Amino acid sequence: MKNDNRLSDIVGGTPAYTVHRPHQPMVRDVRHGLARSPKQLSPKYFYDERGSELFEEITQLPEYYLTRAERSLLEQRIAEIIAAVRPCSLVELGAGSATKTHIILDEMRSSGCAECYVPIDVSKDFLKATATQLRADYVDVQIMPVVSDITEPFALPPVASPTLVAFLGSTIGNFSREEAIRLLSHIAGEMGPTDRFLLGADLIKDPAIINRAYNDSQGVTAAFNLNVLERLNRELNANFPVSDYEHHAFYSSEHHRVEMHLIARRTHTVTIPEIGEISFEKGESIRTELSYKYDRPILEDILSASGLSIEKWMPADDGSFALALARAEG
Ligand code: SAH
Ligand code: AVI
Repeated sequence: MKNDNRLSDIVGGTPAYTVHRPHQPMVRDVRHGLARSPKQLSPKYFYDERGSELFEEITQLPEYYLTRAERSLLEQRIAEIIAAVRPCSLVELGAGSATKTHIILDEMRSSGCAECYVPIDVSKDFLKATATQLRADYVDVQIMPVVSDITEPFALPPVASPTLVAFLGSTIGNFSREEAIRLLSHIAGEMGPTDRFLLGADLIKDPAIINRAYNDSQGVTAAFNLNVLERLNRELNANFPVSDYEHHAFYSSEHHRVEMHLIARRTHTVTIPEIGEISFEKGESIRTELSYKYDRPILEDILSASGLSIEKWMPADDGSFALALARAEG
């Protein structure tokens, strides 16, 4: 990575957890999102500790094919990726539990260079637990967690080159085209000539398969969705009547995206002390997440608008998911 030392005060060589303005932005975003028509909340607010745990449960569901598809692709292609990049550092955006990351770190280690791993995530406590586990699993690798919101300007730490920057799980799909380009342009600007970007992306497919993945039979996705209201009740002292909201998720073939909503079952008013009173009509929705699905041309368009170009395109045999390895054009 380009080494500008901007993060030296944040990560140093030891565990450091820096939350970038945690509470006020949440009040601002919630005020702004719930004043819109239709109402919206940013998906980043799913991920408090409970939300991160629920996401882990989602990854185990029979209907949620994304994690299994990506894991299997990584297992098939990691030797080729590491041989091509020869990274000494791994930076991961939205790392979560970093379960699949073991596949990458193991291969880096066995090919002789695994100096440092930087998991970046907004979910502070969950990231802390992930880092503790990784330190036990990889005593020889420097684990440098960074708590940061990647939708805001953030600094990447100075680490040994070459660096592989991974963005897995199709989390890119939770960003609009503009948001994705803003984030990826920033990443591209930080990448040196030998660094590479590894992206995992869910592909456009039979809508029935996608709809099942976001409407699982055990109701875990519904609990994940509703947790955002529980979180606002916990952290902002709001009084959302959570049991009066219903999970609604559907795939739009026109927009190539899943939309997740919470629908109010009755007319009511919610009080959020730092914001005020907000009215909800019966049947009114709060949009909580978009999850875009891609094909190669759509991703190439986003990557090239961000200053990245694909060097390796690695789709699964069944076309469900793809990995793309890209370099910065600059
Ligand atoms: N990469 C993991 C986790 C994916 S879940 C996997 O592939 O399974 C999405 C992850 O991104 C969560 O850990 C969540 O906390 C994190 N995340 C979501 N929005 C974020 C944001 N704006 N900034 C930083 N991390 C974010
Ligand atoms: C993290 N992200 C890619 C998940 C997705 O599939 O969009 C979040 C999720 N939402 C519902 N289920 C899982």
